[in-house]
Amino acid sequence: MSSEPTVLLLGATGRTGGRVLNQLLSRGVRVRAVVRSAERLPADAADHPNLTVVVADLLSLSDEDLARQVQGCEAIISCLGHSASLQGFFGSPRDLVTQATKRVCRAIQTVRPVQPVRLVLMSSVSVNHPGGLDTRRGWFEKAVVWMLRGLVPPARDNQRAADFLYNDIGTAGRHVQWVAVRPDSLLEGDVTPYALHETLVSSLFRPDQTNMANVARFMCELVTDPEVWAAWQGKLPVIVNASPP
Ligand SMILES: NC(=O)c1ccc[n+]([C@@H]2O[C@H](COP(=O)([O-])OP(=O)(O)OC[C@H]3O[C@@H](n4cnc5c(N)ncnc54)[C@H](OP(=O)(O)O)[C@@H]3O)[C@@H](O)[C@H]2O)c1
Repeated sequence: MSSEPTVLLLGATGRTGGRVLNQLLSRGVRVRAVVRSAERLPADAADHPNLTVVVADLLSLSDEDLARQVQGCEAIISCLGHSASLQGFFGSPRDLVTQATKRVCRAIQTVRPVQPVRLVLMSSVSVNHPGGLDTRRGWFEKAVVWMLRGLVPPARDNQRAADFLYNDIGTAGRHVQWVAVRPDSLLEGDVTPYALHETLVSSLFRPDQTNMANVARFMCELVTDPEVWAAWQGKLPVIVNASPP
């Protein structure tokens, strides 16, 4: 990255997004965070000199305003997610992640950066690798996932966002490159050793565990370490806590 990299962070007030924010700042990265409420930012980060806070409802920003936020950012991390409540799961916007992903990609394409902007999307192991590249799921599990998508809007939303990146942006985008990170069941806890896999490793019925701190760590590595980026660009890595020896 250049001497003063800037990362646009979406969802910085969330459980994982807050951890990403703290870890980016501790690495000396400049962060521009678009949040609905600055009061929900992690207290130790809120007044950090490397943090610029933009208080706005992301989906209500005009295309021009969103392009302004994207301008000058080398990378974008999205930890957006539906709040864990009935309203969050079934209320509007049911397509929060997909809409935000599409709009951010369009904004990057409008800005036409010289170097591709790197977009890291927080996804989930409930998301199938587009193109049927996950071989792990048997027919029964596939049927359950299919049903979940019909019944639980966030599951459908995460799948559509990943499908959009893979099918519409593609794996060799001129202006946008991306990685969709797929954690398993999220846990509190510190950074621990973790494992990365190209495809699913656990069944939905016997889930693995992923510390949010580990997701944050990997996302920060992606945007700050060119080798890590090169290894995962255009992929949907599954991240799980490493089993104790
Ligand atoms: N729970 C799990 O076990 C699990 C496992 C794997 C993957 N995931 C996925 O991981 C992602 C993040 O999870 P998390 O638990 O860290 O999220 P979270 O704590 O629920 O945070 C969600 C973030 O999204 C923002 N947000 C929600 N609705 C919004 C809207 N309409 N407009 C703008 N911003 C909005 C929230 O902002 P406010 O503070 O303003 O509400 C918050 O910053 C989700 O996509 C989830 O599906 C979850």
